[in-house]
Amino acid sequence: MIQVKNVSFSYGAKPFIEHINFNVDKGEIFGFLGPSGAGKSTLQKILTGLLPTYLGNVIVNSIEVKKHDNSYYENIGVDFEFPSLYERLTAVENLRFFGSLYSKPLISVDELLNMVGLLQDGDKKVSEFSKGMKSRLNFIKALIHRPDVIFLDEPTSGLDPSNARRMKDIILDLKSQGKTIIITTHNMHDASELCDKVAFIIDGKIKALDSPRKLMMSKKGTRIVYNYMENGILQERETLSSETCKDDMIKKLLDENRIVSIHSKEPTLEDVFIELTGRNLQ
Ligand SMILES: Nc1ncnc2c1ncn2[C@@H]1O[C@H](COP(=O)(O)OP(=O)(O)O)[C@@H](O)[C@H]1O
Ligand SMILES: [Mg+2]
Repeated sequence: MIQVKNVSFSYGAKPFIEHINFNVDKGEIFGFLGPSGAGKSTLQKILTGLLPTYLGNVIVNSIEVKKHDNSYYENIGVDFEFPSLYERLTAVENLRFFGSLYSKPLISVDELLNMVGLLQDGDKKVSEFSKGMKSRLNFIKALIHRPDVIFLDEPTSGLDPSNARRMKDIILDLKSQGKTIIITTHNMHDASELCDKVAFIIDGKIKALDSPRKLMMSKKGTRIVYNYMENGILQERETLSSETCKDDMIKKLLDENRIVSIHSKEPTLEDVFIELTGRNLQ
């Protein structure tokens, strides 16, 4: 569905995005994971036709994006990082207006509002909306014309946990409908949970690209964490899982039936990110 070949882009004299290559299949969720300033939104803007002066090729749905015309937007949906809504219009009026820009059959406004829990707020002006409500409205605005390819820039940022959960469930549901989704995030939990493939982005370059699972397996160092009582006080120790059999303490505690709890602690996607890029996600 998407082929990106040797793409470079510069805002000024110096190239910022350099030699980016990746493919996304139909029905996949592909993520850009990286800290603030890494170039995630810039990549989204290249893919969505807003920065057509890139070098290389970006083919989305058989269209070379730098040569796109307005019909390109009939088949893609874009949820920008910062909501682009008319503050003086209500949520319903915003959705009707943006829907009127497409020539395709639309999803009903009520269905969209209901999807993100805004049905009761449809007649409120957007200026009265909280940040999280605006971000949910901006998200459904991207879905109104049933696009096959959906670009989401930090879709869960600024949302409370229950709305972030709801958003992730909708994204997974869109995937199950066969939609192709490109998502940017600096949240490793979102990337691990949602993405089939994730690209680690730093300074405009891809430093690693694979499924979150394979990336996590590439880092050794699963640890075993165990708790036990010692003189009435709960103690915690941990050991590398590969060295459990050399841990005399754990053997003794097992013999004496004194283990209170035990669990394994796998490396997270952020651990792998730090190992491969030398940088944190924040
Ligand atoms: N329009 C612009 N003109 C010049 N520099 C820009 C512009 N937009 C973004 N940048 C710079 O490009 C870098 C990457 O920005 P961005 O792609 O927004 O990163 P991210 O989305 O990963 O936080 C930043 O250093 C930012 O200051
Ligand atoms: Mg960004």
